[in-house]
Amino acid sequence: MKVTVVGTGYVGLVTGACLSEMGNHVLCLDVDPEKIRVLKEGGIPIYEPGLLEMVQRNAAAGRLEFTTDIEQAVAHGTIQFIAVGTPPDEDGSADLKYVLAAARNIGRLMTDFKVVVDKSTVPVGTGDKVKAAVQDELDKRGLKLDFAVASNPEFLKEGAAVADFMRPDRVVVGAEDERAILLMRALYAPFVRNHDRMMLMDIRSAEFTKYAANAMLATRISFMNELALVAEKLGADIELVRQGIGSDPRIGFHFLYAGCGYGGSCFPKDVKALIKTAADAGQPLQLLQSVEEVNDRQKLVLVDKIVKRYGADLSGKTFAVWGLAFKPNTDDMREAPSRVIIEELVRRGAKLQAYDPVAAHEAQRVLEDVSGLSFAESGPAALEGADALVIVTEWKEFRTPDFDALRNSLRDKTVFDGRNLYEPALMKTLGLEYHAIGRA
Ligand code: UDX
Repeated sequence: MKVTVVGTGYVGLVTGACLSEMGNHVLCLDVDPEKIRVLKEGGIPIYEPGLLEMVQRNAAAGRLEFTTDIEQAVAHGTIQFIAVGTPPDEDGSADLKYVLAAARNIGRLMTDFKVVVDKSTVPVGTGDKVKAAVQDELDKRGLKLDFAVASNPEFLKEGAAVADFMRPDRVVVGAEDERAILLMRALYAPFVRNHDRMMLMDIRSAEFTKYAANAMLATRISFMNELALVAEKLGADIELVRQGIGSDPRIGFHFLYAGCGYGGSCFPKDVKALIKTAADAGQPLQLLQSVEEVNDRQKLVLVDKIVKRYGADLSGKTFAVWGLAFKPNTDDMREAPSRVIIEELVRRGAKLQAYDPVAAHEAQRVLEDVSGLSFAESGPAALEGADALVIVTEWKEFRTPDFDALRNSLRDKTVFDGRNLYEPALMKTLGLEYHAIGRA
C-alpha cells in the first residue's frame, strides 16, 4: 500500500520504517529540512535501537523515502498518518496547531480518496477537528472529494520502539468509515498475525484510550514512589514490597519501580493534558493531579537525601552523575529527572561530573547554560575526584560496576541511587555508604 507519514519524530519515523519493512511504499514528510537531509543521507536524527538499520534497509529497497515537499506527500499515500508533535500549551493542554496544519494541507492538495489517521497523541475530539479542517479546505476549493478520518494512537516505548511496533500487544483503531476500517485492517494484518490484536472502536474512545493508558502507568509509578517515602519512615524495603505485591496477577510486576520520578515526552505531557481536558469537561481528576504533584516532588528526592547528608550548601562538593537520559536506551532528555536534579545541585554550589552512554550530547545541548557541570567520557572517569556518586538513569552498564574502583575513587565512598540498582546489604559489606529509594 502507499502510505504517507507526516512528521519524522519518534512516532512518525518508527511508523514509517516499520510499515515499509512489511512491503508498504512509505513517504515520510517533515518541514524540517535538516531532518530530511540526515534521513536522505542514510542517518537518523534520533537514537533508537534497531531503527537505523531498518531505515537504511528499506530506503535502499526504495520502499522508504523522505521529502519536505508537501504536495508530493499528499499525492503519495492513500493512508496519510499525522505523527507531528502536540507540545503542551501554557495551560497544559495539547497544542494542535501542527496536527491541524497537516490536516489542512491534505484538504488543500488532495485529488482522490484519503484516510487521514491521527497517530499523534491528541485530546478527545481532535478527530472531529481534523475532519472539519480537511472539509473546510475542500469547500474552499469547491471540491466534493471523499475522505475518512481515523485515530490510531501509538503505544511504543522509546528504547524499544521498533520491537513494540513490530510486535504490538494491541493496535487500537478508532474509525467509523467502512473503507478506512478495511484499509487499516489490511495495513496492520502482518503485525497482528498470530491472533487478531486489532481493537476497533469509535474515534473518541481510541483517543481516550491513549491518555488512559499513560495516566494509569504514571499513577502506578507515583503510587510506588509515595509508598517508598513511607517505607523509609517505617523501616520497610520498597523492593521487597514491590515483589510481594507484583506477584498478584491483578497487580503485575510492570511499572512498579520506585525511582527518582518519571520523565520523557509522554507521561508528563499526557498527564497534564488529561488533567486539563477533564477539568474543562467539568469532571476534574483529583487522583491524577496528585500523581503529577507526587512526581514533581519525587524528582527532588535525591537532592533531599544529598542535603540531609551534606547540608544545604554544597559548595566545595563534587558529585559524579551516572545517567542523564529520562530512561535507558535513549538519548531523549525531555522532562528527564536529571535536569531538575542537576540544576538544583548546581544551584546549591556543587560541581558535577556527568556521564551518559548515549545522551551526553543531547544533555550538553539542553544544559548548556548550567555552570559547574562537566561531562566525562566514561562512568569510571566521572568518579575521579568526586565525593559521591549520584545515579539517575539505570543504564545496564551501571548495574554491576567495579565496586572496588567505586570505593577507591569516591572520597566519601557514598552512593545516592535514584534507581535502586544495588543490594543495600552488599554495599554495606563493600564499605560503601548507600542511599537508595524506599530502602531502609
Ligand atoms: C511511555 C509509554 O510506556 C508508552 O506506551 C507511550 O506510548 C509513551 O509513553 P516512554 O515515554 O518511552 O513510553 O517511557 P517508559 O518506558 O514508559 O518510561 C516512562 C518513565 O517512567 C521513565 O522516566 C521511567 O524511568 C519511569 N518509570 C517507568 C519508573 O520510574 N518506574 C517504572 O516502574 C517504570
